[in-house]
Formats: sequence, C-alpha cells, structure tokens
Amino acid sequence: TTFGKIISGLLKPTSGSVLYNGEKMKISEMKRNVMFVMQEAEFQFFTNSVINELRYGSKGREGLSEEIERLLKKTGMWKMRDRHPFSLSGGQMQRLSLMLAYLSPKPVVVLDEPTAGLDAANLESCGEMIAEIVRKYNIDAIYNLAALLSVVAENKPQLAWKIGIDGLWNILEVAKDHKCQVFTPSSIGSFGPNTPKVDTPQDTVQRPKTIYGVSKVTTELLSDWFHTKYGVDTRSVRFPGLISYVTPPGGGTTDYAVDIYYSAVRGEKFVCPIPEGTLMDMMYMPDALHACIQLMEADPSRLIHHNGFNIASMSFAPETVYAEIKKHKPDFEMVYDVDPLKKGIAQSWPDKLDDSCARAEWDWKPQYDLSSMTVDMLAKLEQKLK
Ligand code: SER
Repeated sequence: TTFGKIISGLLKPTSGSVLYNGEKMKISEMKRNVMFVMQEAEFQFFTNSVINELRYGSKGREGLSEEIERLLKKTGMWKMRDRHPFSLSGGQMQRLSLMLAYLSPKPVVVLDEPTAGLDAANLESCGEMIAEIVRKYNIDAIYNLAALLSVVAENKPQLAWKIGIDGLWNILEVAKDHKCQVFTPSSIGSFGPNTPKVDTPQDTVQRPKTIYGVSKVTTELLSDWFHTKYGVDTRSVRFPGLISYVTPPGGGTTDYAVDIYYSAVRGEKFVCPIPEGTLMDMMYMPDALHACIQLMEADPSRLIHHNGFNIASMSFAPETVYAEIKKHKPDFEMVYDVDPLKKGIAQSWPDKLDDSCARAEWDWKPQYDLSSMTVDMLAKLEQKLK
C-alpha cells in the first residue's frame, strides 16, 4: 500500500525519486499518470450511478459506450447500471473499481489488494479483469501483496486462505498466460516450533502452527511450482516484522514493535503484549521496499532459489527496543501484559534468520539497524503526530 501510494503521488517519499520512462516525476505528474485502485473501493466513487461512474472515469476517451456495455455484461453488472455505487455489495464495488482501472486513460494502474473479500465466482471474474488490464497496459511485473496478518488470520482462517491462496492462484494464472514476473511475500511466519531458532537456514523444516504460516508455506510452494512447471518468473522473500511510520499496524504478531514507537512519541506508557526475552527478526520499511525491487531486478542466472529468500537486518526482544527508545526519551515507560495468542505465535517463530543465500545470490544488504531505525522512526513520527 505504501509503495503504491508513493508512486501514485498520494504519499510523499522521504527520500529518493519516482521515475517514469526515465524522467523524474513531480507529484502532480504522478497524479496525472498513475491510477491507484484502493482496497476500500467506496472512497473512490464520485457520481450517482454505476454507468455515470464509468463514463466519468473514462472521460477524455471517445466512443466508449459499447465498451462500457460489454464490460458491464461481462462482469454481470449490466442490470445494476443505474444503481448508486454506494448501494452495491463489496464485491460489486470492487468490480466497478477494476472496470474503472481498465477504462482509465492513465498509463499506470496500481491495484491495492483488489480481490480482498470476494467469493469464488467474483474472484474468477476479477481474475479475468486483471488479465484484461495486464494485456491493455503490457504489464510485465506483478507485486502481489495481499494477505491477512498472523493474529487476524487466526480468527478468520478461511478468509485468510481465500485472500492468500485463491488470490495468488489467480495472479499466477494471469502471469503464466501473459509472461509476467510475480513477487509475493512470504514471512518468518512460514517457520514453526521445530525449525532451528538461531541462524535459521534458508532450506530447513517448515511446519508452522498458524494458518498464516500454512498459507505462507503454500505461497512459496505454489510459486515454485508455477516456476518449475510453466516457467513463470516467481520470486519472493520471507519478510521479518516490518516497521513503518506510514501505515498503522494491522493485526500482526510483530506489530508491537511499531506500536511502541507511537506510544513513545505520544508520551504514553507502552503495554507490551509479547513476553520479555522473545526474539524476532524485524526490518525497517525502506529496506523491505528495497528488497522487493532488488530481488525482482536480480540477474536470473545467479538465482539458485526463487521463492522464500530469508532476509534479515535486525533481531530484538521487547526490552531491547525499549532500551533503545529510552536513549532518546528517558521518561518513556513500558510494562508487560502478555497476550497468550501473540505469545504462542511469537515463540513458535525463529529468533534470527540466516540470510546468506540472499546476500550471495542477489547482493541483499540492509541499510538500517535498530539504532538508525529508531532515530528515523522517532523523528518521522514526531512530525506526523504533531
Ligand atoms: N508481521 C507479520 C505478522 O506478525 C509476520 O510476517 O503477522
């Protein structure tokens, strides 16, 4: 979401620039050239009927009535053409957003988890829409970032599977037919209690105890299978807990390591749900974004692995990040109130991954450690929460 919003001009990057056809883009140009299809479809409708929405979204292009009629019929929404967009079901709204993306005169389209929460039939028609978009814009790389995180997934297991695996299958089929590269993240959650905990090897036991982990192992295997069977260029990393000052935490076990910075900046006492001494790998978001792009651009002849690369930059327990923050905020306080579900998940994951394969095969090298991340997080959050 963060990456998509940055290239669409909806969020300002903290450093670096966005190039389009080799030219540096201003924010206004990004907005003109890039369409961002949000997960929350309802935030992007402006008119009073489905058909007007499609006419409005494609304005600047002539002779589209037949094309609009064809799309509405294909997606089973012709009968609803005069309905108000807000009266549609979630799945219908998502189909409307995809049609808007397809009709948009903008040359770049970013789809942020457009298939979240759809049933199988809707998912299939979304798959067809995605294929049409891929054809229309000659898309050659798909970053498939949809998933429910570990704690939420444990409470909504079927939805987690549907989004993680049925959604991935859709994308892989489209990629196979249209020769796209596909990036789909795996996670430290793909390991379980009988995996070696320290310097966890690249190739080792993966018997996770969470549905999140089960779906992540499946993601790796399915991506590998599409590679071996059909030659689809699938690539992925096992992300540690990601720490960002942009997107608020959303139901992960590692999210305490984001929440703690918010509490510190707000001057509140932090109540930690993870027990003292629980080590988990973590990573600052700029390194994570860098990893996606670096791996996708890596020379394929050097890759021995394709999916599930271990990547690491720092591993810490709650008391260590607390002590680091306290160096900057001496009055900051932390107490423990352990959540049993989060504790169980955290303790089943490795303490620290060995990422030497990623370093050897595509030159992975993180920029941030706990101390430089803490300086940056605190400064950025001070500004954000001012
Ligand atoms: N951050 C994820 C979670 O805690 C792990 O990959 O669920």
